[in-house]
Amino acid sequence: MKKKISILLVFVTLCTFFLASCSTQNNKNGNVKEIKIGVSVYDEYDTFIKGLVNNLIELAKKKENQWGIHISIEIKNAGNSQIAQNDQMDDFIEKGYDIACINLVDRTDASTIVEKAKNAKMPVIFFNRELVKEDLNRWNQLYYVGADAPASGKLQGQILLNALKKKNIDIDKNHDGLLQYILLEGEPGHNDSLVRSISVISEITNGGYQVKCLQDEIANWNRDQAANKMEQYINQYGKNIEVVIANNDDMALGAIDALEAARIYPGSKDYPVVLGIDGTDVGLEAVKNGKMLGTVLNDSKGQADAMLELSKSIVTGKPLASEYKLEDNKYIRLPYKIVTKANLDKIQMELMNK
Ligand code: GAL
Repeated sequence: MKKKISILLVFVTLCTFFLASCSTQNNKNGNVKEIKIGVSVYDEYDTFIKGLVNNLIELAKKKENQWGIHISIEIKNAGNSQIAQNDQMDDFIEKGYDIACINLVDRTDASTIVEKAKNAKMPVIFFNRELVKEDLNRWNQLYYVGADAPASGKLQGQILLNALKKKNIDIDKNHDGLLQYILLEGEPGHNDSLVRSISVISEITNGGYQVKCLQDEIANWNRDQAANKMEQYINQYGKNIEVVIANNDDMALGAIDALEAARIYPGSKDYPVVLGIDGTDVGLEAVKNGKMLGTVLNDSKGQADAMLELSKSIVTGKPLASEYKLEDNKYIRLPYKIVTKANLDKIQMELMNK
């Protein structure tokens, strides 16, 4: 059962392990007995972010055991307000936390948090919403954990190219040699949104296919907004919609909601190809039941793991776990992966064993 992100202090504690670890922690970790992490997310209702935070909490429980270090995590929701998030940073500093993990509300407005962190000498791991390099370079204790945005659009395009090559679904339904598509974009100005939108289309056209954009609209990563937009497009274009490309799974699912409300179901000749990105639980379910042709796994478990490993390395002064590479002493980027029905079981198994 999914856990709800709490704005209250979440102490991830395993008492039994803690007692057991007291005798060994000095050998393994010098004087570090506890790591206190303050996490602020831009919006606790974002499905992908919710999953990432759940992974962070679950993995922290496991790592306490492995490391013999008590990990306490406080999760705060900035509720889409950069001002609120700046205040949350003050609170983390006042409480004397070791690290702040910040999922910026406004990726172009990191300066207040950076200044606060510098003055208080509190390292910050920014995650998911990539700030500009100049901001990250303003202090040597600022880091970024995320994924390689251009790769996600490219891989999303490859899902379509692979299906076109296999020819087992009729994608160009009107056989005019053009792929009529709808593009549902995340937030304006969000790096992932901008980069994914460009790279998916260029991957398809570089693959030798011609496309025609019917609509390219912002739906803010949001299922309901995407469903509303899609409802209008179904009225406007009907069965001429051949492909729906969404910057994330939630918007792809919103498009599917609208298709189903219009009684256009998977398997019927009017059902377009729908593509998402993230590989959230609900997204993977839609791949499984054939509602989405595929998605691209945005490895939230890997990102949560990397945030914890980097926190440990910063606090203990020990080298970063060998599975992660800290590019330019700043960036950890996790790879994306294509998910279709063909490899879904394998991917789900890998995620479970992480
Ligand atoms: C993206 C993700 C979206 C949304 C967004 C929030 O990486 O694909 O679903 O969560 O981050 O910043």
